[in-house]
Amino acid sequence: MPQVRVEKVCSDPEVHLIRIDDDRIKYFEATWDIPEGITYNAYLMKLKDAVVLFDTAKGDYTDLFMEALRKLVDPKEITHIIVHHTEPDHSGALPKVLEENGYRAQIIGTAFARNLLQGFYGEKVVENFRVVNDGEEMQIGGKTFRFIAVPWLHWPDTMITYVVEDKLIFSCDAGGGYGIPESIDDSDGKVVEEYLPHVTKYIVTVIGHYHKYIVQNIKKLKELGIIESAKMILPGHGLVWRKNPMRIFEHYERVGAGIPTKDKVLVIYDSMYGFVEGRMEIVIDELKKLNKKPIVYRFTDKEASAVSDILGEVPDSEALIIGVSTYEADIHPRIRYVLYEIFDKTNYEKPVLIVGAFGWGGVAGKKIEGLITTSKFDLVDTVESRGMPAKEDEEKLREGVRKLVSWIS
Ligand code: FEO
Repeated sequence: MPQVRVEKVCSDPEVHLIRIDDDRIKYFEATWDIPEGITYNAYLMKLKDAVVLFDTAKGDYTDLFMEALRKLVDPKEITHIIVHHTEPDHSGALPKVLEENGYRAQIIGTAFARNLLQGFYGEKVVENFRVVNDGEEMQIGGKTFRFIAVPWLHWPDTMITYVVEDKLIFSCDAGGGYGIPESIDDSDGKVVEEYLPHVTKYIVTVIGHYHKYIVQNIKKLKELGIIESAKMILPGHGLVWRKNPMRIFEHYERVGAGIPTKDKVLVIYDSMYGFVEGRMEIVIDELKKLNKKPIVYRFTDKEASAVSDILGEVPDSEALIIGVSTYEADIHPRIRYVLYEIFDKTNYEKPVLIVGAFGWGGVAGKKIEGLITTSKFDLVDTVESRGMPAKEDEEKLREGVRKLVSWIS
């Protein structure tokens, strides 16, 4: 069952984390397999004459959230609620918070956020809503709160809050990741190393469709000079960054830009009766001979890889190899879906080799070539033939891999 962690993350000003550790979820957004779970982070700041709540939690966990919140403060004392992003994993408990607050608190967010909240929860929730514009500042409890729009991280409604005097960035989805880290912050290097792959997977599955905005928005924050000097980054999911706050945005930038890890080649294939698999064994052997490190995901009659895991491997791969069967005069359905998501969520300029097998007619290779021409990926070669790979197929496959590798170099 989900647990809630309540920890003081800053003494001056006094900031508390309320973290719901959701180990019950299986498919984020009803789509992405996340056996690693996810956390929903909200923060409460107690100031001289103000109590500020930053976001809430997913509606399923409203009772858990309210119980934790009540231990920190009487909800009636909350003076301001900052809504960075209205997706219900952060706003679900808002109606209950407002009900217990007696609707006294001023809600702060973008104009988009106001409209979305009204649509999700009704007019009463936005009665005391204050719309803020990009870069606007407000004095709350003796502190300067600057609100900075970061559209498409992850919705058009999204903003972050920068507390000027204390250099704190409350960043909601931006800077977040999947997983339930054992620590609350980045002080343990081992925890960070285990967590970052979950961050990559989160970025591509949740924000990947908008990944050019990751680069744009981080550039904007850098130009404002707030990232380099940040004392702490407090996201809506995962670890709080206070040992090395820069690191999480550097990671986001690398994923957004698709910076490769040397020698990593992503190999994805389906194989119904071993015809494609026979080809992929040759391909993988040739990759290893050329000192490349293949990362392999397959769909067979005994296993099915999680598409979310495959997507998480794309940004830092140097190249992709797609092994595919022709199925009913089309791309094998599993590969069709994977490619649809790759081209949508992880559309980077990376070389691709297609390896195909067919029975009475090869169609899948041509269809994938067509998809590649409308993406940023580059087609290196297609090696497609009938049934089990013959001797002459083996040489063509090895040659295809050599071409791919020379394209990288
Ligand atoms: Fe964590 Fe886009 O919500």
